[in-house]
Amino acid sequence: MKNEPQLEIVILAAGKGTRMQSGIPKVLHPLAGKSLIQHVIDTARLLNPQNIHIVIGHGAEQVQSAIDNEDLNWVEQQQQLGTAHAVKQVIPYLHKDSDVLILYGDVPLISTTTLQQMREKKQGAELLLLTCEMQQPDGYGRIVRDDNDKIQAIVEQKDADKQILGIREVNSGIMLLGSSKLGEWLQQVDNHNSQNEYYLTDIVALAVKEEARVDAVICKNQREIEGVNNKKQLAELERYYQLQQAYYLMEKGVTLRDPARLDIRGSLQTGRDVEIDINVIFKGDCHLGDGVKIGANCVIRNSVIGDHVIVYDNTLIEDSIIAQDCHIGPFSRLRPGSKLQKAAKIGNYVEIKNATIGEGSKVNHLSYIGDTLMGHAVNIGAGTITCNYDGANKHQTIIGDAVFVGSNTALVAPIHIAKEVTIAAGTTLSKNIEDKCLVVARPKAREIKNWKRPEKS
Ligand code: UD1
Ligand code: CA
Repeated sequence: MKNEPQLEIVILAAGKGTRMQSGIPKVLHPLAGKSLIQHVIDTARLLNPQNIHIVIGHGAEQVQSAIDNEDLNWVEQQQQLGTAHAVKQVIPYLHKDSDVLILYGDVPLISTTTLQQMREKKQGAELLLLTCEMQQPDGYGRIVRDDNDKIQAIVEQKDADKQILGIREVNSGIMLLGSSKLGEWLQQVDNHNSQNEYYLTDIVALAVKEEARVDAVICKNQREIEGVNNKKQLAELERYYQLQQAYYLMEKGVTLRDPARLDIRGSLQTGRDVEIDINVIFKGDCHLGDGVKIGANCVIRNSVIGDHVIVYDNTLIEDSIIAQDCHIGPFSRLRPGSKLQKAAKIGNYVEIKNATIGEGSKVNHLSYIGDTLMGHAVNIGAGTITCNYDGANKHQTIIGDAVFVGSNTALVAPIHIAKEVTIAAGTTLSKNIEDKCLVVARPKAREIKNWKRPEKS
């Protein structure tokens, strides 16, 4: 590419978003676990621009503090007088000869591919629009072309007559143009229209009047240019986005019982022959190894799951690392810091927190294991509790290899059970135990012979 001008990106995000009916600024509402504006910023960054300027107004502080700032230039638009007025606030910060790409904080799914296409087509054009052919163009500005298909103007829906309302080609709002021309044209925009707003779209007619070359890239995928104005549109884009992710996984060989019932709010990496049942949610960054099976209704967050692990239905896993061949669930909860070594088993109604479960060890029923270091081949009986909290501090439990813990045992931490110890059921234990011991701490049962049950009088 020959001497392409520097790129600067402007993201408009000052609008109120009244129709969201929310106290949260519109651009901070999440799509696939990430705010709308963060989607746009991430896409913008992929184009390696020299600067990213973000115009904020409503909820400015909230927006600014929710986004990591490093490379962003925040520009405040005190009053929302229209899109032209919004872009005007950025003019003092723009370099003289850069290309300016205008994006919208509430149009989250615009792709780098489309924007890259615009950059390529920009060579030669002075004003390049991104447009789209729509079946239902309601609400959008219409692209007016002459008999030779040359773009003449954009007319807003609210200012359009019947003939113009019949036009199917709409303005996405996204455009690319030189910074000096942008400055010149913005000076000439007035607010003599039905909404008394300064329309950015009016620069098209101004450019045409000067015989500047106005051109357009027509976006094939309507979803890319759709904006979010209300909760219904937000949900529609969410479903579209999730379905795209599901298709991508299936292309890579993942078996999905129902692509419409999977949500990925972050990133998911998968090995071969992975199977995912319905209603599964992945959050943050997750990794599934080869042959992993995930049951129905599981929620997995920021976790690495090794090869051939089976996660049964209704299991929650968070910030955990699970080695190969483990079985987890149904109805298990792995809280942050759970580390399962190879072939460990965690069963129903078991909660694990900040604990290492050694190779082949089993915690199969109704237990709480927290702040624990557990060796290999340990068997934890049903209803075992590590009493890790004394009301003020958390303490550690250490359980050696091949320990057998009987049911309904309370291990009062800090405590160290050495290897191959056997603990009888019903024991409450608050002292360290040496290896190979049997521990019984159980009140003797009394037998009362020929005892008569009370009878109803
Ligand atoms: C705009 C376009 C329309 C296009 C549509 C695409 C204009 C005049 N119209 O209409 O042709 O089809 O987008 O979605 O540009 N904003 C500010 N400050 C303001 C006003 C708006 O920052 O003073 C921001 C909003 O936060 C929003 C964006 O600009 O992100 C678009 O504004 P909006 O009022 O939604 O424009 P539309 O009427 O949808
Ligand atoms: Ca809009």
